[in-house]
Amino acid sequence: MKSDAPIIVAITGASGVILAYKFIDSLLEKQKNVFLVCSSAGRMVWKDEKLPSFGESIEKWDSSGRFKLFSNGDFYSPIASGGFKSKAMVVIPASMNTISSISNGITDNLIKRAADVMIKEKRELVLVPRETPLNALHLKNMAKLAQLGVKILPPNPPYYLFPKNIDDINDFIVQKLMVTIGVEDKLPSNYIYNEKE
Ligand SMILES: Cc1cc2nc3c(=O)[nH]c(=O)nc-3n(C[C@H](O)[C@H](O)[C@H](O)COP(=O)(O)O)c2cc1C
Repeated sequence: MKSDAPIIVAITGASGVILAYKFIDSLLEKQKNVFLVCSSAGRMVWKDEKLPSFGESIEKWDSSGRFKLFSNGDFYSPIASGGFKSKAMVVIPASMNTISSISNGITDNLIKRAADVMIKEKRELVLVPRETPLNALHLKNMAKLAQLGVKILPPNPPYYLFPKNIDDINDFIVQKLMVTIGVEDKLPSNYIYNEKE
């Protein structure tokens, strides 16, 4: 793996694992290094939402030479420590359970610990929450994190672009994330309301 600081992708047990799948594909296409952690509930949703199998996906990403998978119990992983420099961390999809833990400083698995490290080191942390409706606890947890500089990016469809199908929506969310973490400078013009044809 080349020495650029990696982007940490964390998959938790909320609906929308396809977003993480497409996001990792896009990062690797852009020659970025990717460190992945997936919670056990994330694996359950992965299976439920009928993505290509976890094993096949890891094998595909591994072949890039820019990808590493860590177990969610692996506190010896480099991303458990602030001494290891990462470019950004994206929790996608982010369950309300994981968001609640992060906002309350609970670090009992690698995903939560790595997120806590991002906050303490003042590095880019983005959460892609998936729940509806949101209750007051969900909102308070996210507000607390937003005040600490964490970006909250709900996977909202771009209705103004008249997406034809769910792929259009997913692609838009991935592009929005690529800009948010600075992998891309701007959205492609077909995703910008004033610039689309
Ligand atoms: C199929 C399935 C779908 C789920 N969808 C969501 C969801 O969209 N949002 C959410 O917050 N929790 C959802 N849950 C519940 C979480 O997976 C559960 O709270 C779990 O404890 C989260 O653990 P984690 O944060 O370690 O991934 C779902 C669970 C299953 C099995």
